[in-house]
Amino acid sequence: MQVTSFEMERWQSLHEHAVRLNLSESGVHPLSVAELAGIAGVDPGPVRLGYTQTNGSRRLRERIAALYPGAGPDNILVTTGGAEANFLATWAHVQPGDRVAIVVPTYGQTPGLAPAFGGEVRNIPLVEASGWQPEPGSAEAAVGREATLVVVTNPNNPTGAVLAEEAIEEIVRAAAEAGAWILSDEVYAGAEVEGERTPSLWGRCDRVLITGSLSKAYGLPGLRIGWLVGPEAEIERLWGYKDYTTIGPSALSDHLAAAALEPGALAVILERTRRIVRANLDVMEAWVGGSEGRLTWRPPDAGAIGFVGYSADVGSSELAERLRAEDGVLVVPGDQFGLDGYLRVGFGIERGPLEAALELVSARLEALGAG
Ligand SMILES: Cc1ncc(COP(=O)(O)O)c(C=O)c1O
Repeated sequence: MQVTSFEMERWQSLHEHAVRLNLSESGVHPLSVAELAGIAGVDPGPVRLGYTQTNGSRRLRERIAALYPGAGPDNILVTTGGAEANFLATWAHVQPGDRVAIVVPTYGQTPGLAPAFGGEVRNIPLVEASGWQPEPGSAEAAVGREATLVVVTNPNNPTGAVLAEEAIEEIVRAAAEAGAWILSDEVYAGAEVEGERTPSLWGRCDRVLITGSLSKAYGLPGLRIGWLVGPEAEIERLWGYKDYTTIGPSALSDHLAAAALEPGALAVILERTRRIVRANLDVMEAWVGGSEGRLTWRPPDAGAIGFVGYSADVGSSELAERLRAEDGVLVVPGDQFGLDGYLRVGFGIERGPLEAALELVSARLEALGAG
């Protein structure tokens, strides 16, 4: 099996701890252990660092299940981040020659992994002019009668758009007609700018797997806690795959994650995330709005990420490299999502550094003739 480079992950891994101003992250400024301990009233000191229940402690699975109406602890498999959840689902559902329909642009994991497992990928493109929604009929065309897996990222990365109900209905209908599983990556749910949490696809059809994680909406990526939600038999089957990957979650992370998801702490953590997203969205609106049309975007519905189009005549990878090397600012180039002429700007950092970084991006674009 050959894998192609996961360009965005490698770009971030190489540079995010070396640059002065990091706008490449898609979550909000992370909590410290002390802050989490304070919010959740938990003392990590006595946690014994043994092996854990490998599918996640019952307490943690109960807390996760409470986020999904109708789910219980046996519908949950705790994983090492959403990344392991996506990996297990793709590994278990893609055999050589299988058709995999993927809503794009998206986080590059399933588009990279599906072909490595021998899958034949068909894209369901999101269209910016339609508010980053798929064109009617495009999901049905990509899924056809053959697809075995349909991958959705909702809310979306990199656009922050939430799928419209009509688009979800078409995807669910097309998957059901093909007998395909849906893998719905919902790691940005809970980080909505306003309104309700994005409704999960859990419960919309029988063959559905949901990916969730504490990394984005909860500001806890360093815990490396994610999960799969699915029908009991399927979760049991995927647990068998997990025995071959990471065995079980870290004991400390399982304990802290369960405390973070207790109702009182959960409310405080999600409110903090929304406060950061809303406040920094204003900074982003002012930045794009002040560019006199040289920057464009459709503001995200959820997540601290903006997919910003620019008019300078320079490729996004070259632009991102110059920003990194000459200005000390790390952004994700759009072509790492297959769309050049865009930068993914993570705006979940503290306000001062965000404003400083955006000014440097504007100055660089101006120097290139289109700021
Ligand atoms: C859509 C999506 N899914 C999954 C992940 C993996 O995140 P983690 O493993 O930290 O949960 C990311 C990270 O950026 C993502 O954007």
